[in-house]
Amino acid sequence: MTKNNLVWHDHAVSKQQRSEIKQQKPCLIWFTGLSASGKSTVANIVEHKLHAMSRHTYLLDGDNVRQGLCSDLKFSVEDRIENIRRIGELGKLFLDSGIITLCAFISPFISDRKIVRELLAEDEFIEVFMDTSLTECERRDPKGMYQKARAGTIKSFTGIDSPYQAPVNAEIHLNGDAHTAETLANQVIAYLQAHHYC
Ligand code: ADX
Repeated sequence: MTKNNLVWHDHAVSKQQRSEIKQQKPCLIWFTGLSASGKSTVANIVEHKLHAMSRHTYLLDGDNVRQGLCSDLKFSVEDRIENIRRIGELGKLFLDSGIITLCAFISPFISDRKIVRELLAEDEFIEVFMDTSLTECERRDPKGMYQKARAGTIKSFTGIDSPYQAPVNAEIHLNGDAHTAETLANQVIAYLQAHHYC
């Protein structure tokens, strides 16, 4: 394939071979939801459980990635789109290396999540909707950000003065108002086992 005078260079070792040596089927487990909905907490527990099952994993998390790879980006619509574009491409590379990759990003726009889904094969993208109500997220407010957003000190805060578009057909729907993070993580593991990812 030629694009912008670049030619894709096939690697001597394939994704399949990298996956086989790890004895696993890589996938991108994409957590989306409001800030403080529990994405990172649940993703961490899932990763811990997968690790205990000798699975090779990596967790990409919004707050962390935004301090490195995406430190030049803020929270305008354009910057959020670019944030998710980069993570999608990064996630694809992780997948190519055979790793079960977990991503925890607000990723507020349906179209951006669709772009990431379309970067991958059909059974490689698992969208997890961390469905915790705004009321509950604001009650938790672990970093005091909702309070600041309500006071107008933080602008364009998701759920307050910036939109969040909930998934319509997520592979996994987690009810963050009703269950503990441990129960929700078990729900994700049950899905992965039922679909032979682990
Ligand atoms: S995304 O919208 O581009 O997907 P991302 O998941 O990377 O967001 O980062 C969200 C984290 O950034 C939140 O958990 C919160 O700690 C912090 N943050 C700072 N400002 C904002 C804001 N305006 N809206 C949402 N999150 C913000």
